[in-house]
Amino acid sequence: MMAMATNALQARYQLAQAVARRAGDKALEMFRQRDRLVIESKGLQDMVSAADRDTELLIRAEVAARFAGDGFLGEEGGLERPDARFLWVIDPIDGTACFVNGMHAWCLSIGVLCDGRPVMGVVYDPNSGEMFHALEGQGAFVNAVPLKASGAAALSEGVLGVGFSHRVPVSAFLPFLDRTLSSGGMFIRNGSGALMLAYVAAGRLIGYYEPHINAWDCMAGIVLVREAGGTVNDFLAGDGLLQGNPIIAAGSGLYATLVATIGPAQAGTPGPHANGLAFSG
Ligand code: IPD
Ligand code: CA
Ligand code: CA
Repeated sequence: MMAMATNALQARYQLAQAVARRAGDKALEMFRQRDRLVIESKGLQDMVSAADRDTELLIRAEVAARFAGDGFLGEEGGLERPDARFLWVIDPIDGTACFVNGMHAWCLSIGVLCDGRPVMGVVYDPNSGEMFHALEGQGAFVNAVPLKASGAAALSEGVLGVGFSHRVPVSAFLPFLDRTLSSGGMFIRNGSGALMLAYVAAGRLIGYYEPHINAWDCMAGIVLVREAGGTVNDFLAGDGLLQGNPIIAAGSGLYATLVATIGPAQAGTPGPHANGLAFSG
């Protein structure tokens, strides 16, 4: 990438970490006083509160103050300036069900695309103080510690993260769980896809699969996993940015096995399953 873009990216990388910490620490205050929050339903098992909206507004304001021409896609506020060279893709609180119910598995997720390519990712967990961050070509880190994806070669060698939402038919997901367990594997779903992808980058989980996820849930995680030496599917295939896609991420020695365990039926099912299964990176 040209030096101009590299410098421009570095500036955004610094801002992303600083704003994630500021916004995350405010979100943590709201988490500790969550009895005061009004919880609204956006759909089946899909909630939102002022904590989500206020956190996104804060991030949008700080990005706009520094980089007024950048584009922005956020879960709560939608898309602005989609044709900008740099596009921020953020989920102010990923793991809202955990947040509103007093569990710690929630985080802020900030990804940046440059010319349509995911190049920067920050996932901040205010409860643990862990700041996961990665910039293309510079590796992935948690705070100052370098990350390396798992070296597992079989599902039996560790724990897989899974995600599921009611955007997908239940029947399209259960055969995958059956095959995973039948091959000696084990899974967890902690409620935050972004945090579980950061855990894949950290080698804590051997991989992650969710049959349909939105771009704001996974853009940061995609960069984290790749920069930690793992492999991720081509999430942006088709209209993944705006419509979502499956996400498949794993240590590189497990990726092909994970794709085979998901099975061709998933790739052939219409809707969100149809795209994004190609190898990339
Ligand atoms: C959800 C979480 C969940 C995943 C869903 C997401 P939210 O995001 O990441 O783990 O399975 O697909 O929608 O609603 O907590 O921001
Ligand atoms: Ca989310
Ligand atoms: Ca969210």
